[in-house]
Amino acid sequence: MPLSIDDARLFSEIEVLATFSDAEAPAVTRIVFTPTDLKARAWMKHRCEDAALTVREDAVGNIFARWDGFDTDAPVVGTGSHIDAIPNAGKYDGVVGVLGGLEAIRALRQNGFRPRHSIELLIFTSEEPTRFGIGCLGSRLLSGVLSAAQAKQLTDKQGATLDEIRLGAGFENELESVKLPPAYYKAFVELHIEQGPLLEQQKIPLGIVTKIAAPASLRVVIEGSGGHAGGVLMPDRRDALCAAAALILEIESAARTSGAVDTVGTVGICDVFPGAVNSIPSRVGLGVDIRDTDLCRRDEVIQKLEKACRSIAFARQVSIKLEPLNADAPAECAPAIVEVLTQSCRNNNFTFLPMVSRAYHDSLFISRIAPVAMVFIPCRNGYSHRPDEYADPQDIARGTLVLAETLAELAK
Ligand code: GLV
Ligand code: MN
Ligand code: MN
Repeated sequence: MPLSIDDARLFSEIEVLATFSDAEAPAVTRIVFTPTDLKARAWMKHRCEDAALTVREDAVGNIFARWDGFDTDAPVVGTGSHIDAIPNAGKYDGVVGVLGGLEAIRALRQNGFRPRHSIELLIFTSEEPTRFGIGCLGSRLLSGVLSAAQAKQLTDKQGATLDEIRLGAGFENELESVKLPPAYYKAFVELHIEQGPLLEQQKIPLGIVTKIAAPASLRVVIEGSGGHAGGVLMPDRRDALCAAAALILEIESAARTSGAVDTVGTVGICDVFPGAVNSIPSRVGLGVDIRDTDLCRRDEVIQKLEKACRSIAFARQVSIKLEPLNADAPAECAPAIVEVLTQSCRNNNFTFLPMVSRAYHDSLFISRIAPVAMVFIPCRNGYSHRPDEYADPQDIARGTLVLAETLAELAK
């Protein structure tokens, strides 16, 4: 019997999950461990329990929903993604992989499939870096890329520690217990929107990811000298925001001139102190994001940034501190899982594009401990991380079907 994806149920669940938001619709804002995020998690757990999955949470709030296989000693076949959303985001980033993963499991169960390997849906904590400054918090801890001791140093903007926040949210075990045992997974497959324009431009319904690009992020703090916007004359100024402006343009230029279109550099945070129109900025904090498919090229941009910090600090007589937050290597997807995804596409006559993920995902970190692969579906105009992010229901259903068939093949 062919698998049937209940697309009406899946789309209505995507709509319901979008209502758990701290922004006005159609925007979605769901920051980890806020009351809104906790309500969304509770709703998700109910959906998983309604699907007869066994739900557990670890100390950092990663949610595992398990369909037991008949060989309970066999390593797990995992799928999943995240439901946290950056400020002013859309409905589909992460959510398609979580609700699509749940629907894939329901479709397999309804079809009478009995897995040998347990199949587990994983809802990762804080894929987005919004609250703690570092992305993929849950998967970094699960894979051991981030130690419990390092995680304990993380704070939010108000200075509250990760431990204080997660304990307040009811996650009480030791962070040390989050790391997964070796060989926990047989395989992990993540469904996600592309977050870029290629599939739509080429009218191809599915992408099979072969590689995930290398992300890095850094915090820059520039200290100059404040003062009265009328009283301090231009030759006497040490304006921290003017120094930041020069640095931002250096970052743009380093990324633009790397020699490859794959290099991208973004300054997405600029906090100006004291932030008054008639006061010279004395301190500026920048959040910098640099990525590339090639690790050396990515690191060359970081080196140019370090050099620019030194020369701008000297020229403008300000101090510039650069703090790396993360600098991760790229990941290769597992050829064996890519092959299963490919077969599923061929069997269904779905055309597909082998592609690189330019966004990072929890799969980047799970790849350090397990074979992973990802399936992409198109998103309108390539838009993501904005309220008009949109994925076509037919594309979501196709991606979910390929995910379901792949999970079945891996778990049999
Ligand atoms: C994930 O949201 C990313 O920034 O790539
Ligand atoms: Mn995102
Ligand atoms: Mn995502």
